[in-house]
This record gives sequence, C-alpha cells and structure tokens, in this order.
Amino acid sequence: MALVMLLLIVAVATAAAVPAELPRLEQSPKADGSLTILAVGDWGRHGEFNQSRVATQMGIVGEKMDVDFIISTGDNFYSDGLSGVDDKAFEDSFTGIYTAKSLHKPWYTEATPWRRSAPPFRKSDSRWICKKSFVVAAEIADFFFVDTTPFVVKYWTDPKNSTYDWRGVAPRETYIANLLEAHGVDLYINGHDHCLEQISSSDSPLQYLTSGGGSKAWGGVYTPGADKVEFFHDGQGFMSLRLTAMEARLAFYDVAGTVLHTWAHAKPAHS
Ligand SMILES: *[C@@H]1O[C@H](CO)[C@@H](O)[C@H](O)[C@H]1NC(C)=O
Ligand SMILES: *[C@@H]1O[C@H](CO)[C@@H](O)[C@H](O)[C@H]1NC(C)=O
Repeated sequence: MALVMLLLIVAVATAAAVPAELPRLEQSPKADGSLTILAVGDWGRHGEFNQSRVATQMGIVGEKMDVDFIISTGDNFYSDGLSGVDDKAFEDSFTGIYTAKSLHKPWYTEATPWRRSAPPFRKSDSRWICKKSFVVAAEIADFFFVDTTPFVVKYWTDPKNSTYDWRGVAPRETYIANLLEAHGVDLYINGHDHCLEQISSSDSPLQYLTSGGGSKAWGGVYTPGADKVEFFHDGQGFMSLRLTAMEARLAFYDVAGTVLHTWAHAKPAHS
C-alpha cells in the first residue's frame, strides 16, 4: 500500500496573494459568474472496489452541474503509481473509467516528488493536467495545488523516503495551517484520508474538506481535534463545489449518488 501523497488545494478570495513564480493556468467561470467543480481522490483501482460506481455518479452530477473542471486530490494509481508512459493502469484506472461526457473537462492534479510522477500522461489523455506546485486562477477564486507530503514528518525519517525525489521541495519548518490562516484561505481540500469529511476550524472561517473516497475507503478511523467535525462518511464517494463571487456551496455524495451532506456559506458583505 502506497500512501505517499497528501495533496492540498486551497482557494483564496483574491488573486493578489499569488506568487508570480508559480505556473498559472487560467480557467474561466461560466457566463453567470459561477464555477462548478467535482473533487475526488484515492481512486485508481481499475474500476474495482466501487471506483466505477463513483465514476458513474460523478458523470451524472457532473452533467447536472455542468462542471468546469475536476480536482483529483491525489493517490491516483494504486498501489504503486505508474511505472512509465506505457503503464496500462492509466487507461484501466482513468481514461476507461471516467468516460462520461461531463467529465471530459480538465482534471487538475498535483505531481508528487514520487519517482513515478505522471506528467507525460497528458499525451494519452488531454484531460490529465498533472504538475508540481501550480495555481488554477479562475477569476472568482484561486486554487493552489500543493503536494503536502513533505509536511508529514515521518516521510522524512522513514527509510521509505528513498522513494521520493525531494529536490526542489522547500523546507517544511513553516507548517501549512499557519499559512492558510495568514492568507485568509477559505477552503482546504485534500485526499489521502480515505473518507469524506468536513471539519470547521475552531479559530478561523477555514473549512477542511476531505474527498478521498474515489475507491479506497473504509479506513474506519478519524481523529477529531479541537476543530468541529461537521460531517464524516467512512465510505466511497465524492464532493461537488459551486462557487460564485459571494457564495460557496458544497455537497458530498455516496456511491449511489445520494447527497449525504451539504454546506453553504455566503461571504460577509464587507470582506
Ligand atoms: C461499495 O459500496 C457499498 C455501499 O456503500 C458498500 O456496501 C460496499 O462494501 C462497497 N464495496 C467495496 C468493495 O468497498
Ligand atoms: C531519509 O530518511 C533517513 C533515515 O531516517 C534520514 O537519515 C534522511 O535524512 C532522510 N532523507 C531526507 C531527504 O529527509
């Protein structure tokens, strides 16, 4: 089992905070100013273990919402990543699974410092956009794609760390939660925990959203801290997000497409 990637995506309210040096991909909102997104993680298991069922429901919800793009939160190809550009797992776990027309949109995902990272696969499926540390700028929100693996201390001390290519990875002295709060980040979306979950920060408006149920699931454990667990589902599924300049709405779905939990938040008028 390779649990090597803890990916985070954060959305901030203003474009001003985007460091100029990160690659920026532009994504236009719809004509009505909204942006609709699906997020799924921990999925690549050749369609088995409910991956295909989740994919089918993503296709249906994706069509209803007319999604603009999909965020893949990591741990994409079980159990060991891709062996090379010819690895059939890419077709078996991605191209051949997420076949719905509504899912033929950009799939943004973060490349890990994994030796078997996936950028070359863009060639065989143009949807697959996998880079290291980048920003998707969508006018009403910015999405920072960051591999948070280096923030997991044991990954630096574990002998298995030889698997990773740490070159170019910044020191991890400044932990991520401080950065999120300092920059007024609204949402943090991650995978790697094999569940669906929403946690509200106790000391800021930040929401932690876990969408790690693309196939791997049934972890059976979660550890609430001082923050409030709004929702937890120990099973497969995915998440949708609808953003406008003034409001965020999210929903979590199970393998049958049943809505398990929704949440909405309007921005205070003067922020
Ligand atoms: C698939 O999903 C159903 C419904 O949640 C669940 O009962 C079943 O155990 C899942 N199968 C696997 C292999 O995870
Ligand atoms: C990898 O782990 C070994 C053993 O714990 C440690 O000595 C080494 O510094 C680690 N390498 C990195 C790049 O963290």
